[in-house]
Amino acid sequence: MRELFAIFGDPVSHSKSPLMHNCAFKALKYDACYTRYHLSDGSRLREKFFELDLAGANITVPHKEEAFRACDELDEFALKVGSVNTIVKRDGKLYGYNTDATGFLKSIEEFKDFKKILILGAGGTSKALSVILRDNGYEVEILNRSQARLTPFIALGFKTYSFDTFSMTNFDIIINTTSAGLSDNSLPVPLNILTLLFDKAVICIDIIYGKETPFLKLAKEAKKITKDGSDMLLHQGIKAFEHFTQYRFDSQEIHDAMKKAFILS
Ligand code: ATR
Repeated sequence: MRELFAIFGDPVSHSKSPLMHNCAFKALKYDACYTRYHLSDGSRLREKFFELDLAGANITVPHKEEAFRACDELDEFALKVGSVNTIVKRDGKLYGYNTDATGFLKSIEEFKDFKKILILGAGGTSKALSVILRDNGYEVEILNRSQARLTPFIALGFKTYSFDTFSMTNFDIIINTTSAGLSDNSLPVPLNILTLLFDKAVICIDIIYGKETPFLKLAKEAKKITKDGSDMLLHQGIKAFEHFTQYRFDSQEIHDAMKKAFILS
């Protein structure tokens, strides 16, 4: 029977995941189809998953922490960071994984010799990225709009700031994990803080893809090296596809098939 997969998010219409996965299903002759589902109430994720009779799903903003709660079983890394972007159903149980973290790490392999990172935002994506980057030897600090969401980061031993408590040290890389700029033109942090950051930063990365966010536009104007979220999207997608299809395909083959989605749109 043909398997059905979906991405849940709010917003979700911009998502390239359906095209990526459908390209790979077709190229690898795997009998499945991938769609998108606009979910505003994240607490209904589990119910919707079963109602749609899905074999697996991806989860994007703002439901990655809710997806963590929706699972029956979690892999070690997802458990550590409390954030899930990939769910697979096996024997009626939901298994949760986080492929954002490894996907992101792969996407920054091109940048060598940079150590100090500031992450903007304190949601599920931020947690996954901050932990994997620290595990891989980077020094990571977090800056978020509100103080409340910083509590788990403090518990994990990260140095954190809200806009009110921010004090500048030198960061080599600034990563925006907030949804500022996704469907509006807002900046992830106030302009006066960004200006300070751009003074020292070498590289600015936004996990948003498919458009130039105000953050990346300003970074470019400030002559920083910039990178959007396309490579992270591709690499997290390859990992998710491996979970969906139980590791029966070669990752290079998946890569080549998924890459076509970036030419098609
Ligand atoms: P995800 O799980 O995908 O990371 P999320 O849990 O919704 O998404 O987290 C979004 C993060 O982006 C939050 O830290 C949020 O800040 P608050 O804690 O203050 O809500 C931040 N964020 C979202 N929109 C923002 C904006 N326009 N400006 C600044 N920060 C924003």
